[in-house]
Amino acid sequence: MSESLHTVTTMPVQRQPGCPFDPPAELIEARRHGPISHYTFPGGKPGWLITGYDLTKSVLADSRFSSRKELLLHPTIDYSGFETPPAAPGEFLLMDEPQHGRYRKPLAGKLTARRMRLLTERIEQITSDHLDAMEKAGPPADLVTAFARPIPATMICELLGVPYEDRGRFQHHVESFLNGETSDEEQIAAVTATYDYLTELVAAKRANPTDDVISDLTGTDLTDEELRGMALVLLAAGFDTTANMLALGTFALLRNPEQLAALRADPALTDQAVEELLRYLSVAKTFMRTALEDVELGGRTIEAGQVVIASYHTANRDPEHFADPHTLDIRRQSAGHLAFGHGTHLCLGAQLARVEMRVAFPALINRFPTLRLAVPAEEVALRPETADIYGVKSLPVAWDV
Ligand code: HEM
Repeated sequence: MSESLHTVTTMPVQRQPGCPFDPPAELIEARRHGPISHYTFPGGKPGWLITGYDLTKSVLADSRFSSRKELLLHPTIDYSGFETPPAAPGEFLLMDEPQHGRYRKPLAGKLTARRMRLLTERIEQITSDHLDAMEKAGPPADLVTAFARPIPATMICELLGVPYEDRGRFQHHVESFLNGETSDEEQIAAVTATYDYLTELVAAKRANPTDDVISDLTGTDLTDEELRGMALVLLAAGFDTTANMLALGTFALLRNPEQLAALRADPALTDQAVEELLRYLSVAKTFMRTALEDVELGGRTIEAGQVVIASYHTANRDPEHFADPHTLDIRRQSAGHLAFGHGTHLCLGAQLARVEMRVAFPALINRFPTLRLAVPAEEVALRPETADIYGVKSLPVAWDV
């Protein structure tokens, strides 16, 4: 191992005060030293931290790096002595081929860009209903509960065929296991309740299919247990991510008024603005892979069994790939960003998330031309880095009436 290799000793748990949109300073510093650093996992196992754009992409495109749950390590908690079980049937985010493909393929056909565009009208309706309710209640509002969460939550419920009357119950359980704020016991209770709910849902769809993804899949050879696992992945991956993009994205626009004004003035910038917000914020900030054999990467040897943490956020701020990367610039070409990952696990819901954001951001900023933060920016409560998905806990906003 070369002397000059940079070492990160602990994964940061906070961002720099005053920099809510930037990766933690330690990760930006690591990228300055090079695209790969050494990292020691809690419990002492040696591993790696990848912060460069090109290296991140090559890890994600390389089948010698595995996503299997039982091979991964926790980046901040010492679980040595505990054996991680493999992913449950259907939980394909944490599987490799061929199991991963068994679940991903039938779903991919259901979430195409064309199908998601067909949902645009529905998303417009849901967005406008929530804006009406916000307007009626008057300022101030918490943008997270009034707008950012209900839009993706409703879309996921419609996709999975969750009946309208079950939404409250279902959303409550899912929020409690995703928000990173609850105790271990509460988390376990919320996951169990979600599992129980999904078990009932799959059985109901098999008995009485409706027009939704789960009902469609009951016509394949997938078992109920597998369908429940797939539904859980869609939920966990598809709800919190978009919700946090909408809330944190609004916060970022409000902190960059010239960008907000440009977007308001020119709706043709919307698609580019969404891609730039995805790059700049990268709310799904880090993922891990484990080397299945010795792999040469960036002049280093990743030994079989070693785990790499890929910081998608820092890779999306790599100055060798994006000029002036720490500036939010909605006119730049951000195509190729890694906010949705890359390779076999590339986000399956990217088209849905894009349509939701392309509808929701312009609708919000046009409905409230005087939208502003209702508290000083430094008082906006942020999620800790230990949460899987980054974002704001709440976003108090106000407007002129
Ligand atoms: C802005 C919102 C979103 C972001 C930033 C995001 C980000 C990501 C990322 C980075 C991955 C790759 C994980 C890896 O490399 O291991 C991923 C995978 C995935 N996402 Fe998303 N996602 C978003 C929205 C959605 C939505 C709306 C859905 C569902 C409707 C969804 C479903 C999935 C699924 C099923 C996977 C697993 C794909 C696989 O393992 O083959 N995502 N997402």
